[in-house]
Amino acid sequence: MTGVGGTLCYRAMTGTISDAMSDVFVTRRIPDAGLALLAGGGASIAIGQEDEQSGLDRAILLAGARGARVLLPLVTECIDREVLEQNPRLRGVANYGVGFDNVDVAAATELGIPVSNTPGVLTEATADLTWALLLAVARRIPEADAFMRAGRFKIWGPTMLLGADVGPGPDGRRKVLGIVGFGHIGREVARRAAGFDMDVVAHDPKPEVVEAAGARWLELDALLEHADFVCLHPRLAPETRHLIDEARLRRMKPTAYLINVARGEVVDEGALVRALREGWIAGAALDVYEREPATAPGLAELTNVVIVPHIGSATHETRARMATVAATNALHHLRGERAPQCVNSAVYETATWRRRMTADG
Ligand code: DGY
Repeated sequence: MTGVGGTLCYRAMTGTISDAMSDVFVTRRIPDAGLALLAGGGASIAIGQEDEQSGLDRAILLAGARGARVLLPLVTECIDREVLEQNPRLRGVANYGVGFDNVDVAAATELGIPVSNTPGVLTEATADLTWALLLAVARRIPEADAFMRAGRFKIWGPTMLLGADVGPGPDGRRKVLGIVGFGHIGREVARRAAGFDMDVVAHDPKPEVVEAAGARWLELDALLEHADFVCLHPRLAPETRHLIDEARLRRMKPTAYLINVARGEVVDEGALVRALREGWIAGAALDVYEREPATAPGLAELTNVVIVPHIGSATHETRARMATVAATNALHHLRGERAPQCVNSAVYETATWRRRMTADG
């Protein structure tokens, strides 16, 4: 099927390799709100993969790129130079996600292709999950849940399933929350810390942003030495890959916890397994993994780690809003207009972009 204005119709490409033209190639199905917006904007839509449990075949991704004017990929698809070079008529990439490390933005810019993302709408949900994980690992919630379900709760006891205080606790010592990466999500995590009476320290390339929010800026190593809870929120870039490596894990307190909802590659996961096993740190809670969906050998066997499958933005409302933001960006790309959430807006000043807009009239 092809999309017609105002009607939600689409053509699925699952299992087929076809170069048939569509306005927007959605790599894997997104929530209906986004598809409805695209169709309402008159765009014809092809969907590469309908089954949410399956990834997209690379050949279908390449065929979809060849046959579309706009790509709307999920963060699971690698939109590299090969994909971008498939089609001289490609007008934009509207990533469904705030992170865009899956897209080769440098290559896109060189080729005159605008790239957009979905910032803002998932800030709250991701900050909430950071706190859910922090509390879950500190208070051993998954272990306690498993304990109950296994019928092991025979009688209450003073040393059963003891965890760590997050607030000041009875000795009155304020805990230190260390935030690495003080963008929108990091700042929302900090704001929630007020309810727990914590001291917030942060590391970010922009110390002024940290200070403006009333937090204390620290060098990364000092933050790691100081914090009781370390939450990671940097964007994945060459300089943040393995930002938390063995040496940095060894700087953390043996009573401290590490929480990662950013990108798995920010942490050396093999080193983290050793840190958890050998007690360099008390525990960790992870939403993201270095070789997603796989986890490092030994990680899933440890009881001092909480692991969830990349659900930072997984609320009904948030995923629907992400779909409408991505679709709005896609329609702008399609019409050759500046996308509201473009991450390489300098591209609009280039002759390569202008040439691309006239490639097929
Ligand atoms: C993102 O948006 O970057 C997340 O990883 C998926 O919501």
